[in-house]
Amino acid sequence: MDIQAITQQEDILQEEIIEEKITKKNKKMTKEEAKEPTLYDLPGVGAATAEKLESAGYNNLMSVAVASVGQLVDVAGVTEANARKIINAARSSMNMGFESGQALLAKREKIIKIQTGSQNLNQLVGGGFETSAITEVFGEFGSGKTQIAHVLAVRIQEQDPSAIAVYVDTENTFRPERINQLSQGVGLDPDKVLKNIKVARAYNSDHQMLLAEKINDLIIKDKLNVKLVVIDSLTAHFRAEFIGRGTLAERQQKLNRHMHVLLRLADTHNLTVLVTNQVMSKPDMFFGDPTTAIGGHIVAHASTFRIYLRKGKKGSRVAKLIDSPNLPEGECAFMVEQSGLTDVN
Ligand code: GTP
Ligand code: MG
Repeated sequence: MDIQAITQQEDILQEEIIEEKITKKNKKMTKEEAKEPTLYDLPGVGAATAEKLESAGYNNLMSVAVASVGQLVDVAGVTEANARKIINAARSSMNMGFESGQALLAKREKIIKIQTGSQNLNQLVGGGFETSAITEVFGEFGSGKTQIAHVLAVRIQEQDPSAIAVYVDTENTFRPERINQLSQGVGLDPDKVLKNIKVARAYNSDHQMLLAEKINDLIIKDKLNVKLVVIDSLTAHFRAEFIGRGTLAERQQKLNRHMHVLLRLADTHNLTVLVTNQVMSKPDMFFGDPTTAIGGHIVAHASTFRIYLRKGKKGSRVAKLIDSPNLPEGECAFMVEQSGLTDVN
């Protein structure tokens, strides 16, 4: 064997050693990574169930550990006994430590409050429309729900110029021209703002739910900095598709699932979810305002803030905060103008 052949052999040997080292290192890394259990490690969770859970926003053990049996049955189609087993396994496999008040405060400090242009409206919701929360805006036609959604989609850019707003439009009322006006109204570049708004038209309730489930992918896979999710309107398709008493249970079940996906998005990614909702008249009510939001308790309970909008005097709009975790109930008036929302003089 000549010298050249020997060196070649040595090179090959060297390569093999390096390769082995890399494989060992990789193995070690995957072992280290494996320390953190995932959904797939839970007994009774196969690929299909894990996928269903993930698409409903349950993408880590914590979310499963704190879910209720009913929720898992709903979203993953497992039996009650299985759901209980999965939840218990998630609970025991993770460190369900208590979070200090300080840690929670640190989390709260990351919250963004989107401004509206009306100081009174900002104040009503505690300084602006918060991330990490669902805000439901409900009211009759023309009360300003879609206008508020457009304003937030623009003004989120003030706090974070890289922020993406996802606008799920169910009634074909998203208007880029309006975004132009509103951007100019606050001195933002309309082209840039429009670029940072991703609009999807939802053709029916299933499509709407699917779109909401896909937002997680936009954030995780496409690495988009989504800070606002608008569902305008949350309930119109559901209301149109499920007619009659017999279908109510199914409608509410689906709405419940939808709300949970949104809640998880808000929670996991520190983003604002704004849902708009219509009202129906309550014929059995003789005093006060005989209108009530569609979707009942399911939508009401999942929402962190609820704002009831109505038309006020001289073209103004009146917003009433219905319930919120830490704010007093209150009311304020504002105007919708070409440049945006303003206080009533
Ligand atoms: P539905 O979707 O039909 O239930 O109503 P909504 O609550 O979404 O109503 P929306 O937000 O679309 O409000 C429409 C109202 O906003 C209009 O009737 C106008 O009064 C007002 N509006 C919209 N654009 C402008 C504008 O450029 N200038 C002014 N002054 N008002 C506007
Ligand atoms: Mg509207």
